[in-house]
Amino acid sequence: MALLSRTFASLTKHSFPHVSTLIRCMSNVPENSVYGGPKPQNPNQRVTLTHLRQKHRKGEPITMVTAYDYPSAVHLDSAGIDICLVGDSAAMVVHGYDTTLPITIDEMLVHCRSVARGAKTPLLVGDLPFGTYESSTGQAVDTAVRVLKEGGMDAIKLEGGSPSRITAAKAIVEAGIAVMGHVGLTPQAISVLGGFRPQGKNVSSAVKVVETALALQEAGCFSVVLECVPAPVAAAATSALRIPTIGIGAGPFCSGQVLVYHDLLGMMQHPHHAKVTPKFCKQFAHVGDVINKALSEYKEEVTNGSFPGPSHSPYKINAADVDSFLSELQRLGLQKAASAAATAAEKIEIAESPSEGA
Ligand code: KIV
Repeated sequence: MALLSRTFASLTKHSFPHVSTLIRCMSNVPENSVYGGPKPQNPNQRVTLTHLRQKHRKGEPITMVTAYDYPSAVHLDSAGIDICLVGDSAAMVVHGYDTTLPITIDEMLVHCRSVARGAKTPLLVGDLPFGTYESSTGQAVDTAVRVLKEGGMDAIKLEGGSPSRITAAKAIVEAGIAVMGHVGLTPQAISVLGGFRPQGKNVSSAVKVVETALALQEAGCFSVVLECVPAPVAAAATSALRIPTIGIGAGPFCSGQVLVYHDLLGMMQHPHHAKVTPKFCKQFAHVGDVINKALSEYKEEVTNGSFPGPSHSPYKINAADVDSFLSELQRLGLQKAASAAATAAEKIEIAESPSEGA
């Protein structure tokens, strides 16, 4: 099948160049097929830095949520979330690691591309993963370029505010890539922070949060995430900066808020995840319970034979064709198969007959 369509495509490309484009479009937008394809989600325009600046100027809170795949991205899109962050938290909530450190750039790029296919309106920000931007400014720019070129993102986020990180942020902006900073608890630095620890809880640490955020602003960042800092510290940073702050576990006085998709939805109600769901996160839903219930019911119905019933067995073969099919099976010496098919056809007819159903 694949070979046939490739041959057709290559033939038509030479004779009718426009036809190969048509074939590509058709295969990308399947309609009336078993698996209905994606429909255009949202005619609205993509959120840009200009939109964010306008919101910030008007004092309208900015919303940001993480997404890692096509369905989560579609949900964020439908909800009208301003910024979709493909966070390296994927390492923990998708890949099951205990920290964000192990995820690679190639893994992140797969998440980025899936999200880019689903989220048509939010500004798309991709995290630079640990180990892909710390060695040199050149390495940081190269990785940021990949996130836009291969991941389809609009901007990148990087963690921390050491002098070399500020230089890297500046170089990435100078390369034409919008940068979001991230200060406070920076999970990629747990080795030096001594674990997932809130920051800004004493004077020097609080001042450092504000100074680092200011330095990132001077480097050209369009926004800064403030993670796990006391609300007054976040309020100070928000007031000191011209660019919006996006808080997570940083209280209400930020220009916007971000949460991790799985945490916000209460997606994983199992002992391991319950252990890592941060205490600042309000669970807006308990989707994990819904998923567990659905899976148990599915298991039960498959086990007791009630699924799939007539309403989930939609494909029909008419009675005359069944008879011919049975004869053909018998002619091929497949008696057992013929009698299985006959029994199945009989059972389906009984299940579907109105008097039986009533
Ligand atoms: O990776 C991530 O999800 C993040 C958010 C917590 C801001 O960086």
